[in-house]
Amino acid sequence: KSKVYAEQYRPQFHFSPPEKWMNDPNGLVYNEGTYHLFYQYYPDDIVWGPMHWGHAISKDMVHWEHKPIALFPDEHGLIFSGSAVVDKENTSGFGADTEVPLVAIFTYHSMEGEKAGEKDFQTQGIAYSLDNGETWVKYEGNPVIGNKGIKDFRDPKVFWHEESQNWILALVAGDHAKFYKSSDLKDWKYLSDFGKGQGAHGGVWECPDLFPLKVEGSDEEKWVLIISINPGAPNGGSGTQYFIGEFDGKKFTSDQKEAKWLDFGTDNYAGVTYNNAPNEERIFIGWMSNWDYARNTPTKKWRSAMTVPRRLSLRKMEGDYMLVNYPLEQVDKLTSDVLESGINVPAGVSKTLNVNGLNQSQLNFTTESKDFKLVFTNHLNETLAFTMDSKNNAIILDRMNSGKTGFQSEFGNKKHHMPTGNLGNASYEVKVLLDWSSIEIFVDNGLYVMTDQVFPTEPYDKLIIENLDNKSAIKNVLIKRMES
Ligand code: FRU
Repeated sequence: KSKVYAEQYRPQFHFSPPEKWMNDPNGLVYNEGTYHLFYQYYPDDIVWGPMHWGHAISKDMVHWEHKPIALFPDEHGLIFSGSAVVDKENTSGFGADTEVPLVAIFTYHSMEGEKAGEKDFQTQGIAYSLDNGETWVKYEGNPVIGNKGIKDFRDPKVFWHEESQNWILALVAGDHAKFYKSSDLKDWKYLSDFGKGQGAHGGVWECPDLFPLKVEGSDEEKWVLIISINPGAPNGGSGTQYFIGEFDGKKFTSDQKEAKWLDFGTDNYAGVTYNNAPNEERIFIGWMSNWDYARNTPTKKWRSAMTVPRRLSLRKMEGDYMLVNYPLEQVDKLTSDVLESGINVPAGVSKTLNVNGLNQSQLNFTTESKDFKLVFTNHLNETLAFTMDSKNNAIILDRMNSGKTGFQSEFGNKKHHMPTGNLGNASYEVKVLLDWSSIEIFVDNGLYVMTDQVFPTEPYDKLIIENLDNKSAIKNVLIKRMES
């Protein structure tokens, strides 16, 4: 973001729209030194409405410059979620001579069709830009993928598949994903389905993403399919599951039966990754909200923010593959003044720190303690509590008394749980990011992650560290202010 917003709850180091309603990140693509972030946007209200693609650009994914709206609804419908690619070889023919088009692939949602009770009201369309995203032209042959009567048929993610020399498109169709291929981004051939009977099915599948990823510390590569689902997340409402498997250019296969979740907080939804990022990095951004209460949160000028950009990697543990997500180094570089350092909390001891600026900070430590509680609080005794509980092999995030919670019954009605498995005896890192109305917790370098929104009446300025472990100390707690 480029300027400091002063409204209550306005995040200072997370992306939020200048005003009005935002949901999913769209069209995440890197091109010629610029990271693009498009997003589901309704410019006329702070609740969901006819969707546009809002737009922002960045050199580092932590400082953003707002751009004019990129895509407006047209005769085919509203502009729902999708992706963008750099068409390096001009396969689409949208460019002249050596021009390299940016091509956006999105869902058209026809309100008339939906109202008329038809089932084919979602189709896929494309648009292109020849000036690195400044201006966009819709393709006259839209839609490029029609609909043969599937009610939920949306959120195309396209990428270049080197091995088969094709563009591959993944979209969701109610309770499963569908894959297509194309040589020119216009003419798409159906390939295969994935997902019936696998993973979580408490709600419709949304916002797929498919990509290869290396296993940490090895050359082994697996394919990852990310699927958002609403409702049906482990702590209620919207959440993001993933599958580890193989993709051969035609079919995604995975022997995984049970769902795995990318984040056990309630506020990380519809996240997808960048196309064309340098060094083949897999960088993820999610929408920090939940359809259960997204339209009710107590902000006035704008609604919601994105997660910090996070690097994805694969960790192999006891023969199982886990998707890890952890903030980029750029986020670390935003740290400035040291608010607290060298804090030691021996086993069985509790310490209270008054920390001016706590509500816009990064907290870090590495410990062997498997049982502790961090309580963020203020003079009104509003509390946001994060507990490591080794007896139950769980992390618990409790925002039930965190401040304003009554705007919607689902928001503060229960604690959020994350299973951890046995943490063993080794030490592990804890990183917490607080930004006025959100908390992001990364345990063991992104193996266990929770993201929640919070709305304290007054900013949290006190931290209680209760070390409940009976033998291991918590040492060298470091808290730094975060710059915007
Ligand atoms: C996910 C989602 C997408 C859809 C968009 C509409 O949050 O429901 O499936 O394309 O939002 O705004």
